[in-house]
Amino acid sequence: MRKNIVVGNWKMNLNRVEGIALVEDILSKLPNDNNTHIIFAPSFVYLNTVAELCAKNTKVVAAAQDCSANRKGAFTGEVSANMIASSNARYVILGHSERRVNFKESNELLKTKVGQAFDSNLKVIFCCGESLLQRESGLHFKWIKSSISESLFHLSSEEFKNIVIAYEPIWAIGTGKTATTEQAQEMHFFIRNLLFEKYGNKVALGTSILYGGSCNYENAKELFASQDIDGGLIGGSSLNSDDFIEITQSF
Ligand code: 13P
Repeated sequence: MRKNIVVGNWKMNLNRVEGIALVEDILSKLPNDNNTHIIFAPSFVYLNTVAELCAKNTKVVAAAQDCSANRKGAFTGEVSANMIASSNARYVILGHSERRVNFKESNELLKTKVGQAFDSNLKVIFCCGESLLQRESGLHFKWIKSSISESLFHLSSEEFKNIVIAYEPIWAIGTGKTATTEQAQEMHFFIRNLLFEKYGNKVALGTSILYGGSCNYENAKELFASQDIDGGLIGGSSLNSDDFIEITQSF
């Protein structure tokens, strides 16, 4: 059965002291019977510290927010998948729209990054999402299909076990404008069906598909109750311990 997962993507927020305080607060308040897989994605700078704090709880791990497309070498400022893995993080977020848009990351580049992540035994949280213009032009399904197929469909079924997909419509990120539960479920079903057509039932039913975009403690329950929504990739609301804990307990 696929996992319920909630990821806190802190983006470029929280310094080291603030990040540690948030994780400690969340871990101390998390119910003992918590069944949700929780992933914190802090800055690289203190990723290792967060990963070590997470080691106290079997349901909680750390992720990086990106990795280099290169294995090693003269790439000033870049962080390799191997460095991330050696910092005890288990996942890397790839293809976030903020990287696709601001840093011009293409499906092809992301395919390379997925390869780097897998070479270092990192699992991948692969993001995709359409712009408002694409949705209004009716191109959203086509866009999501090409985002996923061009970056991931070279993988084997076995490799796909290490992929989590996050659907994040760009128009819902940080805008307070959530996709309706129907819009989110419709796209999640579409994505699961893509996986079914390519890989069959086992991969389609085994892959967690998360929703991201103004997901908060007020709307998480309704979103997560949908058949094909297996959790959330949370930005703003992951920065407040009580809000984030409530989201993790919304299944
Ligand atoms: P918000 O939850 O702030 O809309 O951000 C979503 C997101 O981009 C998570 O990766």
